Amino acid sequence: MLVTGGAGFIGSALIRYLIKETNNTVINVDKLTYAGHLENLEPIENSDHYHFEQVDICEYEAMKEIFRSYKPDAIMHLAAESHVDRSIDGSVEFIRTNIVGTHNLLEVAKEYYLGLADQKKKQFRFLHVSTDEVYGELGEVGFFKETTPYDPRSPYSASKASSDHLVRAWYHTYDLPVLITNCSNNYGPYQFPEKLIPVVILKALQGKDIPVYGSGENVRDWLYVDDHARALYKVLEEGAVGETYNIGGHNEKQNIEVVETICSILDNVQPQDDDKLYKEQITFVTDRPGHDWRYAIDASKIEEKLGWKPEETFDSGIKKTVQWYLSNIDWCQAVTENNYGLERLGAGG
Ligand SMILES: NC(=O)c1ccc[n+]([C@@H]2O[C@H](COP(=O)([O-])OP(=O)(O)OC[C@H]3O[C@@H](n4cnc5c(N)ncnc54)[C@H](O)[C@@H]3O)[C@@H](O)[C@H]2O)c1
Repeated sequence: MLVTGGAGFIGSALIRYLIKETNNTVINVDKLTYAGHLENLEPIENSDHYHFEQVDICEYEAMKEIFRSYKPDAIMHLAAESHVDRSIDGSVEFIRTNIVGTHNLLEVAKEYYLGLADQKKKQFRFLHVSTDEVYGELGEVGFFKETTPYDPRSPYSASKASSDHLVRAWYHTYDLPVLITNCSNNYGPYQFPEKLIPVVILKALQGKDIPVYGSGENVRDWLYVDDHARALYKVLEEGAVGETYNIGGHNEKQNIEVVETICSILDNVQPQDDDKLYKEQITFVTDRPGHDWRYAIDASKIEEKLGWKPEETFDSGIKKTVQWYLSNIDWCQAVTENNYGLERLGAGG
């Protein structure tokens, strides 16, 4: 099984799951950008079932060679530029990796697939991992379904939408056996400290202002990363070729609720010396340009067709997450050294 982007947040959770819970051999193809860290794979790096190749998915010959030498039964494609705020500051890498890179993988996978014997052809799958942000934003009510029309609004979501269209085109045009998943915001251990939850935990512990965009009322649907890893494998194994599956955690929360929950967990597990409450550090900052108001996933298709449901509630998942960051401050220092200092990105203007 080939996994792209396996040194990132979700990819590494997926590989830890595949190595610990299944008999698959995994080839991790990752360029190791600022977001990719082999430390995320330490728990499984010595497994005989795990191989790593530092390769850019945009490189045609290198990717062809990987398919030629490992002969994978499937590819799970997660490599991407993934941070909306960075896409606002500069979109070039988002277009390159998310669109050109996905196109390159589709071409290489198609050529490989066409050369397979019939039995191997029946098994082969190309699973493309995407986001609910391709559907745009919701008002106070409603949910994203697999049939919701695309309406991406940020450079990041537009690049992911574009890659989803390419994947569907390779299915309809070349019969490449693809599957697509669109998931909500993930959280959990090993998330690079530029996204909301790790930023809040670290800023709180450092005694700094905890930035909340706009009024803090934007709503996201939170999915615990290990639940997501199980869902991806389920879709790969049991999903119907050509279909799309939305994956969500049934955990709609306003950003301010998320931040206040983290502050109160920290008040309990790591109280400050002067009995100050962490929530006193919350500071409202200028909103993200084009900040989508609300995302919420209708995950009934994957539940009804494939029997997948999230195991974590937000309360249980966020407690585990805060505890993980408290026990892994060294990891946070290692992955941000020389490349990111928790500063504000994507403010626009
Ligand atoms: N994090 C979320 O909440 C979320 C939600 C919905 C969808 N997704 C999607 O899930 C996937 C994984 O997200 P994540 O949060 O783990 O991202 P991440 O930023 O943590 O990891 C991305 C990984 O891809 C690698 N990569 C980037 N460009 C590459 C290239 N050109 N060639 C090879 N490797 C490259 C990076 O080194 C990194 O290891 C992405 O496709 C993302 O769009 C993420």
